[in-house]
Amino acid sequence: MTTTPSPLAAFAERERLKLLAALSEWLRIPSISTQPEHAADCRRAAAWIAARLERLGFRVETIETGGHPILWGVGPEVPGAPTVLCYGHYDVQPADPLGEWVSPPFEPTVRDGNLYARGTADDKGQVFTVVAALEALVASRGSLPVNVRYLIEGEEETGSPGLTDLLTREPERTRADAVLVTDVNIVAPGRPSVDAALRGIVHAEIHVRTLQADLHSGIYGGAAPNAIETLWHLLEKLKGADGRIRIPHFYDRVKRPTAKELAAWRSLPVKEKGFREEAGAKALVGEKKYGFLERVWSRPTFEVHGIVGGYTGAGSKTVIPAEATAKISLRLVPDQRGKEAAAQLVQAVKRAAPKYADVSVKVFSSVDPAQTKLDSPAYAALDRAFREVWGRGIAPIRSGGSIPIVPLLQQRSQAVLLAGIGLPDDRLHAPNEKLTLEQIWKGIVLFGRFFELLSTENRSQ
Ligand code: BES
Ligand code: MN
Ligand code: MN
Repeated sequence: MTTTPSPLAAFAERERLKLLAALSEWLRIPSISTQPEHAADCRRAAAWIAARLERLGFRVETIETGGHPILWGVGPEVPGAPTVLCYGHYDVQPADPLGEWVSPPFEPTVRDGNLYARGTADDKGQVFTVVAALEALVASRGSLPVNVRYLIEGEEETGSPGLTDLLTREPERTRADAVLVTDVNIVAPGRPSVDAALRGIVHAEIHVRTLQADLHSGIYGGAAPNAIETLWHLLEKLKGADGRIRIPHFYDRVKRPTAKELAAWRSLPVKEKGFREEAGAKALVGEKKYGFLERVWSRPTFEVHGIVGGYTGAGSKTVIPAEATAKISLRLVPDQRGKEAAAQLVQAVKRAAPKYADVSVKVFSSVDPAQTKLDSPAYAALDRAFREVWGRGIAPIRSGGSIPIVPLLQQRSQAVLLAGIGLPDDRLHAPNEKLTLEQIWKGIVLFGRFFELLSTENRSQ
């Protein structure tokens, strides 16, 4: 590190308070996309970041969807320079359980060097960091070094239906030398990383009916079919206690990570004990054959999110429930396909259902897994930027999470970079979500340098 800060670092240093105030203003808008009563807030959050981009000379188009609007920002034309498409989302998850927050979710608060609020890490804080990097570039050089397109949606947390429609109709929008997706985290403090893959996801609900109506368990118990019992046997047929998913052909397309990837994962400063403690679990479970990172990054899952049925009120009620429902999801890995896995699930449930029960499956949505290539000029530019700013290059990792639009962002782009500045303990979707301030300040310099290096390295080729 040099003693005179770079112009980008000087900007981050000088503008700190103003940037923090601005980001806090954005975070105060509760843009919860899943709750219809927050539709107007989603619109306000979109308008807020659109105005910020317009100040930088962007032309911002607000594209209506059936739900929350998409922003398409086009930066000032830089003739001959490469084009970068940046992606992020302004919608956030609900803040419940509210009682668990140390400071209220929509009152951004700084404690111990962290900014706490819903949406700090996922994803407003990360989008803001990239926008601030663009501001730093304009402030220090007078203009941007690359052509920037900024795509910011408000339905990521609900499966990106509107953006999926848009990019299916208009794939040309993804024509770019690089796509930067800042909706992920780095693997550990001081250890920059980029995701080489994300998992896909299928959301579904299984409904079981065994009787016309609930029955007295004394009069009928022993002979009448119980819907909850039927459901648990059915779920057992879909996934065993050994962690293996029993859906026929489900694993056919599952690719093992390469030996090189596995070796790289072993050298990461993430160990099983620390991971278990972070999860707050006494032991980890799952397929014994695979290490814990392999299980969360490169193996598919079958998860039950909730079961409803029978009597759960005070005291006891001797009843045989007639109906039961389970909300489930499947996480998918390369090269599985969302639609295919959904069809396999439906088929498996049908086969596993006993004749005496009416069993139905509702598939809500399916998202394909994504895999990105790591040998592009853009990756090299980001690696160099990380080396300069963090003193360390990129570790290729994966994430177990899903970002629905990533497969479509790959249609016309040379490279998709899944790179963020969040940390693994940022508590996404959970109470006390945070983003570490140091990560924001360094992130501004990092992304600024990335854009600069991309312009010089791509031109010299
Ligand atoms: N940003 C996350 C996904 C993520 C988290 C990627 C951590 C990499 C590391 C995203 O906002 C998210 O929460 N996605 C949902 C999927 C969506 C279809 C509801 C998820 O993964 O559950
Ligand atoms: Mn996100
Ligand atoms: Mn999320």
